[in-house]
Amino acid sequence: MKLSRAACIDDLREMARRRIPGFAFDLVDGGAESERNLRRNVEAFEEIELTPRYMIDVARINTRMALFGKTYDLPFGMAPIGVLNAFWPDADLTLARLCKKENIPYVASSAASTALERLAEAADGNGMFQLYVSGSDDVTESLISRAESAQYDVLFVTADVPAAGKRDRDIRNQLAVPFRFTPEVIAQCACHPRWSLTSLRHGKPNVANYADLLQQATSYAEVQKTLITPSFSWESLQKLRDRWRGKLVVKGILHPEDADRCADMGCDGIVVSNHGGRQVAFGPSTAEVLPEIAETVNKRMTVIVDSGIRRGADIMRGKALGADFSLVGRAMAYGVGAAGRTGAERALEILKLELVRALGQLGTPSIVQVGAENLTDRTLRRHL
Ligand SMILES: Cc1cc2nc3c(=O)[nH]c(=O)nc-3n(C[C@H](O)[C@H](O)[C@H](O)COP(=O)(O)O)c2cc1C
Repeated sequence: MKLSRAACIDDLREMARRRIPGFAFDLVDGGAESERNLRRNVEAFEEIELTPRYMIDVARINTRMALFGKTYDLPFGMAPIGVLNAFWPDADLTLARLCKKENIPYVASSAASTALERLAEAADGNGMFQLYVSGSDDVTESLISRAESAQYDVLFVTADVPAAGKRDRDIRNQLAVPFRFTPEVIAQCACHPRWSLTSLRHGKPNVANYADLLQQATSYAEVQKTLITPSFSWESLQKLRDRWRGKLVVKGILHPEDADRCADMGCDGIVVSNHGGRQVAFGPSTAEVLPEIAETVNKRMTVIVDSGIRRGADIMRGKALGADFSLVGRAMAYGVGAAGRTGAERALEILKLELVRALGQLGTPSIVQVGAENLTDRTLRRHL
């Protein structure tokens, strides 16, 4: 399919699926265990109904939205994605540059395939940094001070990875850290020459911020301990709050009481997220829990939502359910996977076009006007 004929994010996903070897595609596309949560995220957004109102002048649509003191051209940003260069070479820098160009936020993952300093430079003022708290305090401190030196002023602390998610596709594909070339991997690469040649040119993707440490690691357990910790607790969060002078956002909140506690601790925001369904299959979708969380927060801090956004209208739906801003993960990744830089541009163009059209159809010329009053009675009964 030609890129210009890709009508929606699902079309870009299909293009990426054809272009990328199965093991690398599954790494991004897959979810935890049965993938119920992954599917449910998308379905739950689709189920949110809003009633269009007509005879309102919608000739000029305003999608601009402020987040942490800066105004962006669109009410969503790029979610942090680890080791994305394994999906498509140079994906990290491609997306960081695009976010700058289109004036939307880019959240750099601490597990990115590109060093946080290079991503800060590419995102040029639009970058924010996501931190996985490590099992080693020294590693965590080193990432925080590097993020400070690189002049990130918003820190996202990811709370929803007490352990690596169990992703059945990755197990079947025998994905291992560090990466190994099994005969099956070699066979898949041979069937996807463009991906393989581009990957060869760019070199083997790694977790750049920890590259030296991971090279020294002698076991998988050591790798895990460097990247994440099962002991991250409210006390750890309090220490981070005391340590980080900029805005602090907790990513991966699904319960109103946890949101309440984040607000009480002086956090600046939360991301209502289930990690795109990559951690568990048994949890709720974010669209289902968002209204109660937003109500509990009651404007004391910023509420961001992600997980399952595949349409521009989903960003409008998230706003109606109480979110101030959205993040998209796979939707943008599929674009890069489909056609590199131009594919990422197409993904953003599709989301933007869909959002603008949806706002016009809803009769709300500005995204900031969208709220619970736009929801249908059926959705209100179910969700509020
Ligand atoms: C392949 C992949 C890697 C991810 N890596 C990270 C990460 O390093 N840090 C993080 O906080 N979230 C990570 N996430 C979760 C995203 O930030 C985001 O919450 C999720 O992708 C949103 O769901 P969506 O993909 O349905 O938009 C990752 C998601 C995917 C798909």
